Amino acid sequence: MNKVETSFLHKNQFGDDFLWGVSTAAFQIEGAHDTDGKGPSIWDVFTSQKGKIKNGHHASTACDFYNSYQNDIDLIRELNIPNFRFSISWPRIMPTGVPPINQAGIAYYNKIIDALLSAGIEPWITLYHWDLPHDLELKGGWTNRESVNWFSAYVEICVQSFGDRVKNWMVINEPSVFTGAGYFLGIHAPGKKGITNYLKAMHHVTLATAAGAKIIRNRIPDAHIGTTFSCTHIEPATQSSKDIEAAKRVDTLLNRTFIEPILGMGYPQGDLPVLKKLNAYIVEDDLNNLSFDFDFIGLQCYTREVVKSSLLIPYIGAELISAEKRNVISTDMGWEVYPPALYEVLKKFNAYNGIKKIIITENGAAFPDTLKNGKVYDIKRTHYIQDHLEQILKAKKEGLNVDGYFVWTLTDNFEWAEGYNARFGLIHVDFDTQQRTIKHSGLWFKDFLS
Ligand code: NOJ
Repeated sequence: MNKVETSFLHKNQFGDDFLWGVSTAAFQIEGAHDTDGKGPSIWDVFTSQKGKIKNGHHASTACDFYNSYQNDIDLIRELNIPNFRFSISWPRIMPTGVPPINQAGIAYYNKIIDALLSAGIEPWITLYHWDLPHDLELKGGWTNRESVNWFSAYVEICVQSFGDRVKNWMVINEPSVFTGAGYFLGIHAPGKKGITNYLKAMHHVTLATAAGAKIIRNRIPDAHIGTTFSCTHIEPATQSSKDIEAAKRVDTLLNRTFIEPILGMGYPQGDLPVLKKLNAYIVEDDLNNLSFDFDFIGLQCYTREVVKSSLLIPYIGAELISAEKRNVISTDMGWEVYPPALYEVLKKFNAYNGIKKIIITENGAAFPDTLKNGKVYDIKRTHYIQDHLEQILKAKKEGLNVDGYFVWTLTDNFEWAEGYNARFGLIHVDFDTQQRTIKHSGLWFKDFLS
């Protein structure tokens, strides 16, 4: 492979302090679903239900990271990636979600952290990447206000156990996606539906984000604390005022609803009236307890959406026009490949006052890779990453705040409702043999980071 042939990008253009990394999540890679005392999570239960996941896939073994972590950490080092983001599985630490603690779970993450540090790789922990202990779901999960206390107790244990060696923490991953898909649409675990479940979950998750961050700050004074949000560049389908208004409501829902209360701005109820229903769940000091002064905000951007007004869609009065209908190039997720979206969201989030630092904590693409003669020539993914890095450079040249880029993801893994059909990895996984093969994109990234 010839570097010049594929790109003129050079790591030095991003500056010495720019953070390069790769992101993963426990449920998507670990497997070992009931090993060493782990309790079931809502995703273990959801994947065991018929018809929830494409092709009936489940994650009982996934990439077997639980057993093969040393091999995968060696691969991260081989790819010259200095930062590794992974999540802690709450039901490994507390099988029923509340004490007692499962010491084997703590020991497992200690092994991961120590292996990373001895490989010279910086650990970045996400405390919650969607795998709520099932027993807590039986008590209402995130719709129960107690969830803020359950989560706080879990965070306490994690920071006490790992805070001596881990300085980079992210509290909650993509709240808008897991509350929207899991508590409103019912297409992700726990499969709940409806506006009431959704709004309660939204409020409790936001309170938990701030509460968790405060615990980290108190226990680890030199911690680098963030939390991650999904974000999407939104455009109206036409310049009609109806479509412009519809696009504004979708933008509010997808990009603003979770971050604005964290920044002390409250919920954006003016631009999305259905959020006024939240007032039924907001008590006393909540508005003060929703905010936290994060050291960094993690943004995860994959695409843009084009929106038209639609009276048929309740609460939001808007419809997304799929990439397929628009006849544009898309990934296996059906998401348009549109690199300028990354620049646009950087511009948008830079406009907020309270954000100190922005890190792109996820970006990547799913394409139908094929393993041929021991190689995976995933040139579309290589270009996807390069084209998004160009957008970051453009933003940096304009003086916008952006301090890091983490690829989603290290190895092909369990992509939630899509099962193993959507391959996002820099490294190919044969799920029958667990054989790993570094793809062209991984080799390019390695060369770029060298
Ligand atoms: C967002 C999520 O954090 C991650 O779990 C997921 O696999 C990727 N984006 C791709 O959909």
